[in-house]
Amino acid sequence: MSVIIETERLNLHTWTNEDTVPFIEMCADRKVMEFLSEPLTPDEAKTTIRRIKDHFKKHGFGLYALEKKDTKSFIGFTGFMIPNFEHYFTPCIEIGWRIKNDEWKQGYATEAAKACLNFGFKKLGFEKVYSFTSIHNLASQRVMQKIGLHNKGRFYHPLLDPNHFLCEHQLYCIAKNEFDQFFKL
Ligand SMILES: CC(C)(COP(=O)(O)OP(=O)(O)OC[C@H]1O[C@@H](n2cnc3c(N)ncnc32)[C@H](O)[C@@H]1OP(=O)(O)O)[C@@H](O)C(=O)NCCC(=O)NCCS
Repeated sequence: MSVIIETERLNLHTWTNEDTVPFIEMCADRKVMEFLSEPLTPDEAKTTIRRIKDHFKKHGFGLYALEKKDTKSFIGFTGFMIPNFEHYFTPCIEIGWRIKNDEWKQGYATEAAKACLNFGFKKLGFEKVYSFTSIHNLASQRVMQKIGLHNKGRFYHPLLDPNHFLCEHQLYCIAKNEFDQFFKL
């Protein structure tokens, strides 16, 4: 395991075999998947891990696995992706997160996402980072706001049926200089 980013309470690291079982459990949880899709089967979760690893190989960055330093346990992921659909704001870098339900509301997503943004702007050379989620996903939008992203309005996700309740998305964005200003770096 290589720790790529360290925060006060978390190690953000490359994926190991030990992450597979807790990842499968997290993605089988209906509450975690409420605004994403149906809960994933174990095979679907394993395919997701393969995709995450492929993304790292192809781009050199991706969704980092999160380990709580005190218990050494897997609690989710946070990091970057390149969206696989066309829209006026793509191609772009997207930041995203998923945390185990029993670890919610303790500031982990915000802590990991702030550290990722800093890493993205300072080490990976990103100029702008986007994030988006269903308009119903208030927790995720709150994380976006807490790390300084601006609301850029709504859009209909082109890969979803327009009548699907998750289709309408809220788009957020932050530029490198805005991140520095927001956190007074
Ligand atoms: C979104 C998610 C990652 C947030 O993780 P978290 O570790 O609980 O987030 P934080 O503890 O850093 O909380 C960030 C803010 O969101 C708020 N928040 C958390 N859950 C919330 C909820 N269900 N509704 C409204 N606000 C919520 C927190 O109170 C906090 O805001 P505050 O400091 O103003 O009180 C987590 O809910 C999750 O994994 N959800 C399922 C997966 C998902 O939707 N991922 C995003 C897909 S785009």
